[in-house]
Amino acid sequence: MQTARPVAAKAARPTVISRGRVVRARAAAAAESPEDMGFKTMRDGVKVAADETLLTPRFYTTDFDEMEQIFSQQINPNLNMAELDAMLAEFRNDYNQRHFVRNETFKAAAENITGPTRKIFIEFLERSCTAEFSGFLLYKELGRRLKDCNPCVAEIFMLLSRDEARHAGFLNKALSDFNLALDLGFLTKNRRGGSDSSSGGWPRLAGVHGSWAARGLGLCRRKYTFFKPKFIIYATYLSEKIGYWRYICIYRHLQRNPDSQIYPLFEYFENWCQDENRHGDFLAAVLKAKPDLLEGTVAKLWSRFFCLSVYITMYLNDNQRSAFYESIGMNTKLFNQHVIIETNKSTERLFPAVPDVESPEFFMRMDRLVEYNSKLVALGKSDLPAPLQSLARLPIIERMVAEIFQIFIMKPKDCGSVDMLPAAEQAQVMY
Ligand SMILES: [Fe+2]
Ligand SMILES: [Fe+2]
Repeated sequence: MQTARPVAAKAARPTVISRGRVVRARAAAAAESPEDMGFKTMRDGVKVAADETLLTPRFYTTDFDEMEQIFSQQINPNLNMAELDAMLAEFRNDYNQRHFVRNETFKAAAENITGPTRKIFIEFLERSCTAEFSGFLLYKELGRRLKDCNPCVAEIFMLLSRDEARHAGFLNKALSDFNLALDLGFLTKNRRGGSDSSSGGWPRLAGVHGSWAARGLGLCRRKYTFFKPKFIIYATYLSEKIGYWRYICIYRHLQRNPDSQIYPLFEYFENWCQDENRHGDFLAAVLKAKPDLLEGTVAKLWSRFFCLSVYITMYLNDNQRSAFYESIGMNTKLFNQHVIIETNKSTERLFPAVPDVESPEFFMRMDRLVEYNSKLVALGKSDLPAPLQSLARLPIIERMVAEIFQIFIMKPKDCGSVDMLPAAEQAQVMY
């Protein structure tokens, strides 16, 4: 169990930089305007969000009436309220209340990151901030809509949104070290299916970021993707667990290789990832409250589908941006493979089927997808006229679809949670 601890002392181990080097780096960083690095700004220091693609983080909405039915104690006899009450007590403890406190080393470290590395750092921070903010919006809305039907679950979702707001805020503050920020209030005015009040918690955030959040950071105008509740539950469980493994792997790597610790953000990942792990455990309890998501042939197909969607998206995204991971001394492929294997091990204790990611065929095919994706990216950057680019994309996309299909039909691992077995069989497994 995580306990709250002041991190300032730990995070205060700055990269040692000579005064002359700092001055030169500061001048170099200041000379690189956002426009020079290829970023568009909507006003001074406020970045226009990156274009949305199939692989970028999205904002989600769902059928909240159906969600109410899942969490209604009158309708759903599978809700384990004792477990959910215990989880609520855990979230109320707020172990990371004092964790996300910045120190004086951030700005100087950011100024020391220049050239292409500076650009990829900004892109990493933007993607991470958008993903965290997406979680904040979804959980906040769920907390608001479920208040009447299940106050316990509603409060847990509110506390999840508290954590995600902190994460997004911390990342957006890190962007300001690079003289940019995302306008995180803008989106809330453009919300489909939600009122302004649903997202009004953002400017009133409690905690260490309240003051700057209150200045109204705005949000980048994005479309909302609709997912049915069952898909939201699968997808959020997986994104929390994979988020946990990503953060802890980066943290452990940098603990072993302190010379690669070029920006102090990563020193916060150890406690941060425990938030994501707790979120994932709560969503596992939610999945168990809907046994049809964890039992039967259809559930097995959806489980594999969502695992593959999450794994493939991360693998293609990260390998497209391997320069970022190399800048902190990581081998992108090995890092991703480790994260996928560990996430799959966590997931197989819950989902009824998962892909066999340890089969040699799995990553061989994933690497082929990376090659095809690189060709698509190169095509996008080429001077070919748009119609010819579209035409040239078709055979590559066809190969990617075929490769994904081959991965999907690979022999899966049958697995699942002991909790889903009949009581007599549970006893046999456990004792
Ligand atoms: Fe988070
Ligand atoms: Fe989370």
